[in-house]
Amino acid sequence: MRRLVAPLALLLASTACTTMEAAAPVAAAPERMVSPILTSPDAVDSATYAQPQVARVTHVALDLDLDFDAKRVGGVAELDVLAAPGAEDIVLDTRGLEIASVTDGAGRELTYEIGETVEEGGKGAPLTIALDGATKLRIAYRAPAGAEALQWLSPEQTKGGVHPFLFSQGQAILNRSWIPTQDSPGIRQTWEARITAPKPLDVVMSGVRQGEPEDLGNGRRAFRFVMDKPVPPYLIALAAGDIDFAELGPRTGVWAEPETLPRAAKEVGDTEQLVSAAEKLYGAYRWGRYDMIVLPPSFPYGGMENPVMTFLTPTFIAGDRSNNGLVAHELAHSWSGNLVTNAVWEDSWLNEGVTSYFENRIVEAVYGKKRAEQEAALAFAGIEETLAEVGDDAPGTALHHEPGANELGSAITYDKGHFFLRTVERLVGRERFDAWLRQWFDSHAFQPATSEMFYEDMMANLVRDEAEAKTLMLRDWIFAPGLPRNVAKPDPAAFAEVDGAVDAYAEAGVIPPAYAGWTAAEQMRVLDNIPKERSAEQLAALDSALGLSETGNNEILFLWLELALANRYEPAVPQAEEFLAEVGRAKFVRPLFKVLWDQGDWGQAHAKRIYAKTRAGYHAVTRAGVDRIVN
Ligand code: BES
Ligand code: ZN
Repeated sequence: MRRLVAPLALLLASTACTTMEAAAPVAAAPERMVSPILTSPDAVDSATYAQPQVARVTHVALDLDLDFDAKRVGGVAELDVLAAPGAEDIVLDTRGLEIASVTDGAGRELTYEIGETVEEGGKGAPLTIALDGATKLRIAYRAPAGAEALQWLSPEQTKGGVHPFLFSQGQAILNRSWIPTQDSPGIRQTWEARITAPKPLDVVMSGVRQGEPEDLGNGRRAFRFVMDKPVPPYLIALAAGDIDFAELGPRTGVWAEPETLPRAAKEVGDTEQLVSAAEKLYGAYRWGRYDMIVLPPSFPYGGMENPVMTFLTPTFIAGDRSNNGLVAHELAHSWSGNLVTNAVWEDSWLNEGVTSYFENRIVEAVYGKKRAEQEAALAFAGIEETLAEVGDDAPGTALHHEPGANELGSAITYDKGHFFLRTVERLVGRERFDAWLRQWFDSHAFQPATSEMFYEDMMANLVRDEAEAKTLMLRDWIFAPGLPRNVAKPDPAAFAEVDGAVDAYAEAGVIPPAYAGWTAAEQMRVLDNIPKERSAEQLAALDSALGLSETGNNEILFLWLELALANRYEPAVPQAEEFLAEVGRAKFVRPLFKVLWDQGDWGQAHAKRIYAKTRAGYHAVTRAGVDRIVN
């Protein structure tokens, strides 16, 4: 393939500027917003094949059919290209896509080549297209059966049991398995889609639905969507199934299967208040509507912040809104993550850590200080536990990761990130901190960002002087492992009563008598902190006194099952098995298989038997995680 050096690439790049670049004006075409890209070395994404400074995709138009029989998606992707003068090729990301043809806007065939597939990390294969002057590409293609982003559910995997279901999960680099584009968080694209699906299924996407679905007369309907704000392509998402909608407020609503919708709508009844609280903190919600879809339980995450359509697991529904920090979290991503986006996944704390802090502020505003402080204290305990486990000099415990660093779960990226911002807030004062964070979102709206930019912005727009810089320890927080000594620890009073009761149990075997009246966070604190080694008698006594196996809160049920299996408590096995057969949320599934696996022959036999039955029902994300444990 020809390679080009492009000094003119500067035309396409912008490192520190805050202005939008206008797309090349095309007569009569609607003006589309084009975001800048970053070109500094720390913004180079090792997970993409794209060379955006040479040629980049600015808009994606999908015209796809959902084939539930073949479990395949196929059709046409039209891409708008912004190329440096003299650019010869554009490089896209693909993973298993079958390309039928590539033409330009006028139907002229363009030559293309699919390079070698890199399995490692799921990078896939580059699709290099000779531009020959083209500014529009038309790619006819089919996604493979087994595309990693997509999960096709049989009717049995849904609540209704009658119709199939489909959903996608793009983060981090899965969307290249169904969309041929530049799949990098630093290359923002506007998009639109026309999706056809068999009746009576409804389709939702992370874009604004346009009008009513069109009946095609062949048993299918076509749905249209538009996202007119440039987003990183991992945020393009789709779901289709027998789903209904419930309005929650003037700009909020929730989709779910009809059987789930009433419970779901009740649980997220606070959403309008959450949006208002978020806006009051850090500025206008810029995406129009905020809707959600509660998916079947195989969804591999708790939630995913797909713009205008947060995707949620049904397992967060507890009946008392106690897990609604999840909604606050996905909503907060509408600023941290979706508005200002980590340019590379090594900086994902910029998405997840900032969001976890923001989430806690929303929880405080809507559910009160006590709940927020308890949730922060649970998170802090997780950081300490992880640091104790891996050592506080382990490189993976820095917020900014070096490429290829070990992922340490959520304690660093999420919770250390949260405590970083909390610490800065405490040291400079809430008023100054909030004004700064709002400014950060505003001045980087619809743009990618790096750790270095975050640091520079704090130095330029928040930190007053040398002395203050010294107390904040910003570079330690971002680039050094461990926990800086200035950390704003949680209030020890947050769990004073609970911790006292846990001590009494550990020392004298007194099962906490007030447990039933405690908040979900308090109950979780108990399960986090009671002695890990328990006999069968002790577990039976705990279960019968506290009703652990009967809890309606899946976070608590998970902690109970984990404790029970770690002690080879046979009576918990059938319930664990039932849970693992229904729920595909990786955060629950992976640790339960892990704890079984760690129990030698006893647990490994159970793990193998259960996984043989449940594996086929898991999303590729969850399967990949468990495959590494159960062999
Ligand atoms: N963006 C994440 C989900 C994600 C992370 C997908 C990494 C792919 C790779 C989402 O916002 C998230 O953090 N979900 C959490 C919510 C929790 C922290 C409240 C989850 O799923 O558990
Ligand atoms: Zn998140």
